[in-house]
This record gives sequence, C-alpha cells and structure tokens, in this order.
Amino acid sequence: MTAGSHGQRVPQLISLDECEQLTAKRVHDLYRKYVSRSQVSLMTSFGFGRELVESAEGAWITTRDGRRILDFTGGVGVLNHGHNHPRILAARKRFQDARRMEVHKTYFSPYVAALGHNLAQLLPDDLNMSFLPNSGAEAVEGAVKLAYKYHGGKRHRIIRADIAFHGKLLGSGGLTGTPDRFRFPEIPGVVSVPTATWPRSATPSATVATCTRSSSSRSARPPCGAAQRSSCAACGNCVTPTTSC
Ligand SMILES: Cc1ncc(COP(=O)(O)O)c(C=O)c1O
Repeated sequence: MTAGSHGQRVPQLISLDECEQLTAKRVHDLYRKYVSRSQVSLMTSFGFGRELVESAEGAWITTRDGRRILDFTGGVGVLNHGHNHPRILAARKRFQDARRMEVHKTYFSPYVAALGHNLAQLLPDDLNMSFLPNSGAEAVEGAVKLAYKYHGGKRHRIIRADIAFHGKLLGSGGLTGTPDRFRFPEIPGVVSVPTATWPRSATPSATVATCTRSSSSRSARPPCGAAQRSSCAACGNCVTPTTSC
C-alpha cells in the first residue's frame, strides 16, 4: 500500500502483464507471504518449483528457459487429457465467445445435465448419478458421506492407511494418516492400518468406508494384527484407534 494524495491507502496490485513477468524467486516470496509458506519449503526441498512454466501442451511442459519436460503425472488424475487439449480449449472458447453463464444458484446448467447423462452412458451398469466436486477433499468427503448413506447410518468405522493424504479440509484432513495425530475434531470411528492393501477378509463388517491412498510400501497387515502394540478398533479392543495398530 502507498499513501494517496489525501492520505488514503492505495493498494499496489500486480497487473496481468506484471504477473507474467514475475521471477521464480518473486513467485516463491509471494507464495510465502500470501499463499502457503510450507508449500514453498516442501516443494523446493524436493527440488521442485525452481523454474516457471512458459506453456504446456499434451504431455509436454516447456519451461521459461526453453527446456521441454515430459510430464508423466497427468495432474495426479485431473489432467488425463493432457495440458490444454485442443478440443477442451475449443469448447471453452466457444463458451466464452457466446458469453455463456458460468454459475448461478437459481438456474439449471444444461452443461451439468449433459455431462451427467454422458458419464452415465460411459460408466457400467447402474452407475448413473454424478457428483461433480471442485476438489479432491470434497470428493473424498462426498464418498464417505455416500458410504454412510448407503449403509443407512448403521456403520460407523472408516479405515484409512496410516501414511496417506486425503485433502486439506477438516473432514479429509482427519482422514489423512500422518505420524503426528491430527489435532482437530475428526470424523469419528477412523481406524488406521499400516497399508491400504490388507486382505479383504480383514475388513471388519461394521466398516462404512475405506480411504485408500497410501504412500507406504510396507507389507499388508490386518487391522488387528496380533503382533501389534495394541489391538485395532476393528476388533473392539483398540486403545488408540487413530494411530497405527
Ligand atoms: C488421492 C487424493 N485424495 C485427495 C486429494 C486432495 O485433493 P485437493 O487438494 O484437490 O482437495 C489429493 C490431492 O493430491 C489426492 O491425490
């Protein structure tokens, strides 16, 4: 902020042109100050995020210094068509050229209706209803809610891997498995297991859902493995149900 001629505070905003000229260092500084300090230290400590991307097309990323990188990540599942797929760009351009309405609470969207229909045609059997979330956390929490609903509220246990990430919202944060206990209110009945690959027969009958995304490579163990420090909540004797057995 700077002071205006009448002493009022004038915000110093970054224009689109200036934004496109920001250096990697300045982007890091802005992230640290206004977005997420820990994201910068995490990414750069793995050697990521040190250069900025000029453009991306299909599976190729071109950095500002002209290097081409083959991107195998597929956006961790959200860019399965690759970067800037021409048919997606064409649809978006057609939408904006016609000044279509993006969102509204009180008008239905023909695009949502058509997408729901098309997904139902492509998915097997009676997988007909679509829930279109905006983030992974919303998808995970929506799935858990759906599982409660499917079981008529009669099941109350959720199994997650002890090393896992399920999102940044409160519910999905509580489902995330970390060495440190999540310090905030959690969805009740969350049980940790060492990996997400335990034998199916070991899944207790009262389980409402299993959240499976683990970065652990340890071998499979049932939730109430006898060799463990304490029994798992799955067998009813658990001492610390939110830590690994
Ligand atoms: C499997 C899985 N679940 C949930 C999430 C959380 O997604 P978001 O950050 O969009 O909420 C991620 C993000 O990496 C993920 O990979």
